Amino acid sequence: MSTTNWKQYFDQKAERHGASVKSSDYFDDASFFMQRDNTLRWLGKMRGKEILDAGCGVGAFSEPLTHENTVYGVDFSEKSLEFAAGRGLRTMTGDLTALQFDAGKFDVVLCIGVIQLIECYLPVIKELARVTKPGGTLLVQTLHKDSIQRKLLRLFEQSKKFDKMYGMDELKQALSQQGFEQIEFLKLYHPFQFVSMSCGEGMMSDLFCTSFAIKGRKKID
Ligand SMILES: C[S@@+](CC[C@H](N)C(=O)[O-])C[C@H]1O[C@@H](n2cnc3c(N)ncnc32)[C@H](O)[C@@H]1O
Repeated sequence: MSTTNWKQYFDQKAERHGASVKSSDYFDDASFFMQRDNTLRWLGKMRGKEILDAGCGVGAFSEPLTHENTVYGVDFSEKSLEFAAGRGLRTMTGDLTALQFDAGKFDVVLCIGVIQLIECYLPVIKELARVTKPGGTLLVQTLHKDSIQRKLLRLFEQSKKFDKMYGMDELKQALSQQGFEQIEFLKLYHPFQFVSMSCGEGMMSDLFCTSFAIKGRKKID
């Protein structure tokens, strides 16, 4: 699908499902909470930080962070942003390839479930890196292309909706090239409700890892 179609797709989802995580294409509530709660725990406790939720959808993922931090949410789906604003995010309509923020503004940048929708993801990673403060954290979560479940699903799936997926090494290289260090992974295994932490790929269990989050710290020059 083209960029314009994804915007329409998520506008229509939000129109239909409102603030529900179904608007952001999560399979169900259990799957959403498993991903969100484990990822936020892994990110660590935060207070008084400036946070960007890039591609925030209806804002359900970063809502818990709004209580003690300032969370900005950017998305090109205006309908989704109405719900994100209701959850306490400071919302801005925009495309992730050209963010309207100064360089180094954010302590933490989150990009959850977005890059699998983007044909060419490197300009987005570059832009997220630009707005991350030196010493700040960038966390990207996406689909793992090498999992057995994903490979099987792709064989039987009618729509090729999510045909973009990533290897862990590919994203590790992209973050390193943008000046991030201390790179780590959180691996998520559906439908087993199981997660594990690691510094790299290459384990047998990776074959069952359906999604992963990668985080890194931006180097201080
Ligand atoms: C699968 S949803 C995930 C939403 C949210 N991050 C979450 O995990 O609940 C993907 C979101 O990314 C947004 N999106 C995709 N490509 C984008 C782009 N290039 N610029 C801005 N938003 C984008 C979509 O509108 C949608 O709301």
